[in-house]
Amino acid sequence: MSKPHILILGAPGAGKGTQSKHIVETFGVEHVTTGDALRGNKDMDISDMDTEYDTPREYMEQGDLVPDEVVNAIVEEALSSADGYVLDGYPRNLEQAEELAEMTDLDVILHLDVDRSELTDRLTGRRVCTECKTNYHVKYNQPEEAGVCDECGGDLHQRDDDTEEAVANRLDVFEENTVPVIEFYEGRDEFAAIDGNQAPDAVWADVKAAIEARAE
Ligand code: AP5
Repeated sequence: MSKPHILILGAPGAGKGTQSKHIVETFGVEHVTTGDALRGNKDMDISDMDTEYDTPREYMEQGDLVPDEVVNAIVEEALSSADGYVLDGYPRNLEQAEELAEMTDLDVILHLDVDRSELTDRLTGRRVCTECKTNYHVKYNQPEEAGVCDECGGDLHQRDDDTEEAVANRLDVFEENTVPVIEFYEGRDEFAAIDGNQAPDAVWADVKAAIEARAE
């Protein structure tokens, strides 16, 4: 039986990374995340692509989208070698959604729906392990020892784009560019809206049930 092709959509801070970790562990798929791929290549030279800036860093630190040409190539390469995946962070605009339709088919499309007021609190309080990238939160998901990752003992830090100013821009960019993507998928049999305002375990219970109901 082939492993499912899962797309997870949601605003910055909706819990896509948190839920993707559970999906990977339970369904044995690969986590394909444009955010992590770009953070690992922030200083890649993209000057030959006729872009406004010469590296992804400038776009990311302001909370703007990295040009489609760069991101499309990353996703196409990652999906071509994945036996089942959860795709997180892509597509973020309608042009990317059209590109994705050319690359693959989807079995499950999840939308984690979270109120904007909750998102800012989650993002500015997030802490991430510098080594294994596990997410924590200063109030909602604390490690056993402050500043130290439970999984690998690595140091926890705040992402450059989790400042209040960058977060506000990321949420505006989401509303303008990515809400139309969600509307594009809504109504399909593969689509499931999940109440992402709930506690993480309750969100996971709904995510798991939605995948099991759609993936064969
Ligand atoms: P990316 O890394 O994809 O960031 P994002 O979409 O902004 O999403 P986040 O990772 O911030 O949030 P999340 O939904 O994963 O939430 P998490 O689980 O961590 O993208 C970063 C940048 O890269 C973009 O701004 C752009 O510049 C560029 N980029 C990426 N993809 C691109 C693309 N396709 N095109 C162009 N540019 C692209 O949870 C957040 C916090 O909340 C954590 O602290 C967590 O512990 C906590 N939490 C999670 N769930 C709950 C819950 N249910 N209750 C309470 N707290 C919770």
